Amino acid sequence: MTVESVKPGAPVAAASQGELREPPLAGGGVPLLGHGWKLVRDPLAFMAGLREHGDVVRLRLGPKTVYAVTTPELTGALALSTDFKIDGPLWESLEGLLGKEGVATANGPRHRRQRRTIQPAFRLDAIPAYGPIMEEEAHALTERWKPGETVDCTSESFRIAVRIAARCLLRGDYMDERAERLCVALATVFRGMYRRMVIPLGPLYNLPLPPNREFNRALADLHLLVDEIVAERRASGQKPDDLLTALLEAKDENGDPIGEQEIHDQVVAIVTPGSETVASTIMWLLHVLAEHPEHAARVRAEVESVTGGRPVAFEDVRALRHTNNVVVEAMRLRPAVWILTRRAVTDTSLGGYRIPAGADIIYSPYAIQRDPKSYAHNLEFDPDRWLPERVKEVPKYAMSPFSVGNRKCPSDHFSMAQLTLITAALSSKYRFEQVSGSNDATRVGITLRPHDLLLKPVPWE
Ligand code: HEM
Repeated sequence: MTVESVKPGAPVAAASQGELREPPLAGGGVPLLGHGWKLVRDPLAFMAGLREHGDVVRLRLGPKTVYAVTTPELTGALALSTDFKIDGPLWESLEGLLGKEGVATANGPRHRRQRRTIQPAFRLDAIPAYGPIMEEEAHALTERWKPGETVDCTSESFRIAVRIAARCLLRGDYMDERAERLCVALATVFRGMYRRMVIPLGPLYNLPLPPNREFNRALADLHLLVDEIVAERRASGQKPDDLLTALLEAKDENGDPIGEQEIHDQVVAIVTPGSETVASTIMWLLHVLAEHPEHAARVRAEVESVTGGRPVAFEDVRALRHTNNVVVEAMRLRPAVWILTRRAVTDTSLGGYRIPAGADIIYSPYAIQRDPKSYAHNLEFDPDRWLPERVKEVPKYAMSPFSVGNRKCPSDHFSMAQLTLITAALSSKYRFEQVSGSNDATRVGITLRPHDLLLKPVPWE
């Protein structure tokens, strides 16, 4: 199964304004903080429990009312409706740090234009050109990791995710050293950004304390790196067929070249979501291979049968059905993107409930993808649920880790190809065991990932 084969359908029809009801208030709120304390204390359990209270529920976060959507059908309707846009506190804090002019935070005509610019680099027919780089990186990892030596999965997963995104999309020989610096800067920036979002201490983050200094240094280096990459490409006079060239040649609504700030923000807006999400997913895939040796062995057997023992290649990816299903099932139970938000641009409705203009709406792919109403044996790791004969049981929108609609991740094909290839390359050489000191508890940040996964690669007998 591919994630794309769970197709989006038509949005749920809106009821007329007169028939609309007020969504119920979720239970469990406390005076003053409302549901905020639960959301901070155990956000995953809180989001997963909301469907019991209704299809759309109201939450009180301090003085503010936020709406949560809890069914697959209504999350699809939300993502596909033009009555909602990207906005709200999460996006505002991202904009403050990463820039205001990138595709991930733009809306309206600017967003449509930016998507048109970047889309060709991510189209299905563009992906094979990245195959040699993905292959090289996946095999380099199997060489880099030595049998029996502890692998720090956090830094290694970040490293390969950044290298693949940077080498494929911003091509150039110089990318190797830059990719290393990008890794270091991004890891620190993401850690600090999440802290700033959940604990908004405002000016306290300006105090000259070591964690603030480290964060500011990393953020400055990220922006500097992007400037260097852009300047170097310009100075080279080269125009390879890649995303960076597309950005440098892009025109705005009036046919004029886009501004320097927008080029900069676009590179940041593409590289940052691209590395954190893929890195987190690789960490969970490594965890799955260690925790489910029977599936690691099946992946290995499948790779062997497809390749006949030669190193796995990009061209093999389509034939690696079970490996692909392992990736999809890992993404179901451990979605990198666990929470998404929208803001209503007008008075509107969802599932017969009234949503006022300006309302902030949240939903959780984590809760949707683990819901027992959508999945039999919902918490069981079962890649075979994605076999063609069983995939029909999955309700529409119950598996949308890349989202749907106009904000759908442009990189679904790019990501699935590299994740499948990396899983295949690693499993054909090693099985994995967690070592002492490893902490595989879920760490909730901008993405979900294991706290500190440490594994030992063990060659197959
Ligand atoms: C948007 C997930 C990899 C670039 C999104 C969204 C999701 C998502 C759910 C939609 C956000 C929303 O609806 O508000 C993922 C997952 C990935 C992944 C699960 C890997 C496992 C990547 C990669 C890149 C990328 C590798 C780029 C190299 C983007 C961009 C957007 C986006 C630019 C914003 C699109 C827009 O607003 O129009 N991603 N992503 N993502 N993703 Fe990904």
